[in-house]
Amino acid sequence: MTVAVFPGSFDPVTLGHVDIATRARMLFDSVIVAVAHNSNKSPLLDVDTRVELAAAALAHLDGVTVEATDGLLVNFCRARGAAVIVKGLRGGADYDYERPMALMNRSLAGIETVFVTGDNALSHVASSLVRDVARHGGDIKPFVPDGVAQAVRAALD
Ligand code: PNS
Repeated sequence: MTVAVFPGSFDPVTLGHVDIATRARMLFDSVIVAVAHNSNKSPLLDVDTRVELAAAALAHLDGVTVEATDGLLVNFCRARGAAVIVKGLRGGADYDYERPMALMNRSLAGIETVFVTGDNALSHVASSLVRDVARHGGDIKPFVPDGVAQAVRAALD
């Protein structure tokens, strides 16, 4: 049984994340979506809301679960028996951002990172842009799973 961890801030979960989780599940028996803390960001949504929204968005995928995690990601991976981290790539900028983390996680614990190419139709969809569109009164429903737009609106009000 191959277990992979798909980590991120998921602030909020987007259709891009659902696409990557779906593709990751085709590659691995079990995918744990890890709602993690990024020291460089202060999230709009609290961790419980991020977990709840991601869990609802991925409930249709057997073998995909969602958990919050704190601390080093590699410790979480070890604790769950995962030898692989999955990340989605929308383009070259994502690779430049992800590469040092992949190398660091390999250095720390020998955990490999597998990059999955996302659906090109979603390559402009990023949580940061979604938050920005919402902040300025735009409609984010086309980019996020059901229920997310309402939660983002509530967090901004
Ligand atoms: O969606 P993000 O914010 O780009 O995800 C980044 C995240 C949360 C995966 C990364 O910051 C992380 O792994 N945080 C956990 C703490 C950790 O292990 N830091 C070292 C990463 S090499």
